[in-house]
Amino acid sequence: MKMWDGRFSKTLDNRVNAFNSSISFDSRMYAQDIEGSIAHATMLGKCGIIDVEDSKKIVSELKNIKADIENGSLAIDPEAEDIHMFIESVLTARIGDAGKRLHTARSRNDQVALDIRMYCKAEIKEIKELVINLLGIIYETAKENKDTVMPGYTHLQRAQPLTFAHYILAYAQMLMRDASRLDDVYRRTDVMPLGSGALASTTYPIDRHFVAEQLGFADVTANSIDGVSDRDFVLELSSALSILMMHLSRFSEEIILWCSSEYSFIDLDDAYSTGSSIMPQKKNPDVAELVRGKTGRVYGNMTALFTMMKALPLAYNKDMQEDKEAIFDSIDNVKLCLEVFGAMFATITVKKEKMRAAASGGFINATDCADYLVRRGLPFRDAYKITGKLVAYCIETSKTFETLTLDEYLSFSDKFENGVYDAVNLENCVADRKVYGGPAPASVDNQLSILNGFIENNKN
Ligand code: ARG
Repeated sequence: MKMWDGRFSKTLDNRVNAFNSSISFDSRMYAQDIEGSIAHATMLGKCGIIDVEDSKKIVSELKNIKADIENGSLAIDPEAEDIHMFIESVLTARIGDAGKRLHTARSRNDQVALDIRMYCKAEIKEIKELVINLLGIIYETAKENKDTVMPGYTHLQRAQPLTFAHYILAYAQMLMRDASRLDDVYRRTDVMPLGSGALASTTYPIDRHFVAEQLGFADVTANSIDGVSDRDFVLELSSALSILMMHLSRFSEEIILWCSSEYSFIDLDDAYSTGSSIMPQKKNPDVAELVRGKTGRVYGNMTALFTMMKALPLAYNKDMQEDKEAIFDSIDNVKLCLEVFGAMFATITVKKEKMRAAASGGFINATDCADYLVRRGLPFRDAYKITGKLVAYCIETSKTFETLTLDEYLSFSDKFENGVYDAVNLENCVADRKVYGGPAPASVDNQLSILNGFIENNKN
């Protein structure tokens, strides 16, 4: 028996029933559905649309239903069409006519829009908390590595000296933007659609602002057609999560490189690495690889959502039922990734000497040598050319800027003096980049205090 049996003379084809049903994935919104119905029923009673007695009966039975689902005594019926129908049918079976009054002045279209907004709001908060937690882990690691000199890269070629602290604080910047993007999405999700009805609102004298207040919404949707057909917040959330995963995938890629023998900049904790079934020597960075891999799936969900919404005429269309699996999957996977990635990163061993050794080998102080000549009066382009010749000479003779003799320097330019050794000393190269945003310890201290302030301001 379907709720709409009056209009139909045939029962639904079994395959269509299964095809149409969303209960297998929307049952996870049972708490939001019940909370929304409690607010709706309370409002109906308050506005005199149904008897206060009926309203009270509905509210108290909905609370029982929630408790029964949670203690396992009420199983969600996999044959039900969706979570909204399921809860309403249990309610009606339990309290009769009062239960049948709950859906007055409401449609599943505004009901589902409400539920998914409430669900996303809670998840956005949780995801943001995980981002802040990861930022805290980066903060701690950065604090320990303000003097850990390492090569920075462009084109994956050794470029200029940095510190590990400065390096990972770049990821902190990305994650701070992710957190604030989540705040933005939250603001536009925090708008209450109930009362939009199927699409043209309702003739009953409902109080939408009362419902919004009870459910903790900041605002109420201002157009009933938009109220039921808007899924921008789902698209925005999936986009914000895609960008977040893109950041984690870049970070993961670095972790994978850094723990290879070729780099050997870090060691992963055994608890966050896996072995090989055949090669006894292997210690694999599976966690980072999986985070990198799952990025594709979060992008895939985003693409699915955008394509699902493309060119949909107003207002509600069943296509929109497809929003849930995609956004739920992105939410689940992002949360998993943030949690596991953070735990893995918190336990890495930073191999400072290896980083320092890599920094010494690739002429990453060449710019500093040229800058030294500029300070001695040469135009930058001339200084650049001389330094280039020095690099070629070093490669040929297996030397570095640190090991060239002063005579060798002088054979390339008479501007060189003993001071060149200070200029090409890697620690000095880093310390001299004290520009706002640079890698010098003082500048990194500033970045650390910005990060710390952000974490403090965004703690719950
Ligand atoms: N299960 C549906 C969804 O997730 C609920 C809304 C159904 N509305 C309708 N008119 N069939 O979108």
